[in-house]
Amino acid sequence: MTLLVTGGAGFIGANFVLDWLAASGEAVINLDKLTYAGNPETLASLQGDARHQLVQGDIGDAALVSRLLAEHRPRAVVNFAAESHVDRSIHGPGEFIETNIVGTFRLLESVRGYWAELPEADKAAFRFLHVSTDEVYGSLAKGDAAFAETHRHEPNSPYSASKAASDHLVRAWHHTYGLPVLTTNCSNNYGPYHFPEKLIPLMIVNALAGKPLPVYGDGMQIRDWLYVKDHCSAIRRVLEAGRLGETYNVGGWNEKPNIEIVQTVCALLDELRPKADGSRYASQITYVTDRPGHDRRYAIDARKLEAELGWKPAETFETGIRKTVEWYLANPEWVAHVQSGAYREWVQKQYSAA
Ligand code: NAD
Ligand code: DAU
Repeated sequence: MTLLVTGGAGFIGANFVLDWLAASGEAVINLDKLTYAGNPETLASLQGDARHQLVQGDIGDAALVSRLLAEHRPRAVVNFAAESHVDRSIHGPGEFIETNIVGTFRLLESVRGYWAELPEADKAAFRFLHVSTDEVYGSLAKGDAAFAETHRHEPNSPYSASKAASDHLVRAWHHTYGLPVLTTNCSNNYGPYHFPEKLIPLMIVNALAGKPLPVYGDGMQIRDWLYVKDHCSAIRRVLEAGRLGETYNVGGWNEKPNIEIVQTVCALLDELRPKADGSRYASQITYVTDRPGHDRRYAIDARKLEAELGWKPAETFETGIRKTVEWYLANPEWVAHVQSGAYREWVQKQYSAA
């Protein structure tokens, strides 16, 4: 038995692969383009493990994907591969259209070709699980009910529009061709191996480097935070028992304004790595120009997943954020290696005028 995981060298995909192989003997073929966000070092502990094979390539490369499917005959595909950073999608939406829409389309077509030729029993057992985001639902006002799976898609950024398009393609491949698909829409993840262009890891690495902590606008935008390993356990559960063609929202019931997140990170660093001069990390907080089109509030209603499949997150925000800060303090080499030339160029482009 084998899984084909795409984007498994990125933040969530790599956590998924590591957790999967820690708990199961089932092999993983890991197809990843290794963009700036893909990092084989995250998977270093799997070196020499015959159950894992990392293949550098594009989900849109039909010849490669078809060959991998024919050779390894996976019983499921879990699609994490995407361009994932909203700010990058604002600077350059092209890659988001290419990977998230065209890439997903090509992947669906390759998988459909493989699936159609499977023996009946394997065909019935096959699954294509598409990992998506709560951002497809748009933005909530204060007091609005959290996003349920029935909420209409109202994406506001090039990133969320491209993910919404991919969700629609996945849905259509089920309704039209019968491909056995599952879709998960998750809230903001955080945890180990998170690329430091995203809020929480950026704040940790900037704080430790004595740099400004750039908070967009008034810092009162709300996100709903989920520890990455809880997202991975939800995906495992949906893969195992989700109903075909269904969408499952994944979230941790942890709505928090950004400024509170940044203050929490600062307070944990004050405790775990106090500054030599006795000053507080929060003194580095700097309000900067807001993100264009910035969504005000996300909140996920995860009751369907909880009621139907019995999933619950294991971490509270308090336990998860402490583990996360501790992980970054314990892994300075990983951080140093991802802060390559390309990373420095991005930070210069995004924050120089702020
Ligand atoms: P990430 O940017 O850290 O990783 C994406 C991975 O995909 C990278 O390893 C990259 O090399 C790979 N990739 C990019 N283009 C590819 C292509 N054309 N072919 C093959 N591989 C390619 O992203 P992440 O945060 O790990 O997110 C994973 C998935 O989960 C994405 O689909 C994202 O939309 C979704 N998601 C993320 C969050 C979050 O908070 N990070 C929340 C909900 C959903
Ligand atoms: O909601 C799920 C989504 O969460 C995923 O689909 C995306 O892939 C993932 O990147 C994330 O999107 P966000 O835009 O919410 O995450 P980000 O970490 O970029 O920003 C979180 C909040 O913090 C957001 O309101 C913007 C703000 N922010 C972000 C950065 C990078 C700042 O205030 N300052 C910053 O420097």
